[in-house]
Amino acid sequence: TFSSSDDASNYLAEYIIKKINDFQPTPTKPFILGLPTGSSPEGIYARLITANKQGRITFKNVITFNMDEYLGLPPTDLQSYHYFMFNKFFNHIDIPRQNINILNGLTTNVDQECANYEAKIKKYGRINLFLGGLGPEGHLAFNEKGSTRQSKTRKVSLVDSTIKANSRFFDNDCEKVPKFALSVGISTIIDNSDEICLIVLGENKNFALNKTINGKSSDENYPSSYLQDHHNVLIVCDNAAAGL
Ligand code: GLP
Repeated sequence: TFSSSDDASNYLAEYIIKKINDFQPTPTKPFILGLPTGSSPEGIYARLITANKQGRITFKNVITFNMDEYLGLPPTDLQSYHYFMFNKFFNHIDIPRQNINILNGLTTNVDQECANYEAKIKKYGRINLFLGGLGPEGHLAFNEKGSTRQSKTRKVSLVDSTIKANSRFFDNDCEKVPKFALSVGISTIIDNSDEICLIVLGENKNFALNKTINGKSSDENYPSSYLQDHHNVLIVCDNAAAGL
């Protein structure tokens, strides 16, 4: 727990840099990094960009898998997670384009797209580090209330509270928010990751963070509580998020 969001972001950015550098990835043994969107990881991305420019880290041998994408939004849409990731991170670091994996929100074959994504993650064996955010109601990626422990990459319906929370990016108009998304599942995250790190910032996360840590384990109503089942989870938060 840190007193400011800046300190929390700084800590986790440096932590990730150290993990990648200690691993010393090579073309035949890349570092596999899971990545989130949302405002919470933005400070981490900014710091990783700076470190990359300073030569303190390279992403040349890092493979990334993003957690989720809105269904129906083209990569050029300002609100797509594709756009977000390239705009906030990938365009500013030395990662090769072919190392980046994001679910295709324009797919015409949802089942195939999801199965391919899941298979590609499995092909690499383990995700070395999965960085995640936390939804105000305890969602992880777009695994909403009711997501099962066994869930894999799939099409999901967004619940009203998520649509409302994310409407701030869509002119505060819930009608404009996509109602469906593609998301990695709980199993995809928990069963494939050697380590899971969460960045949790702000008072509006204190309910979800409390449920994540102190709530019943593996409670379908709060999917982040599945993390209690994983052997290696690091949660980095600010005081506001830790309020409960
Ligand atoms: C979206 C994303 C989640 C993210 C959540 C919280 O719903 N699908 O992966 O964790 O937003 O975002 P923020 O950090 O902006 O609160």
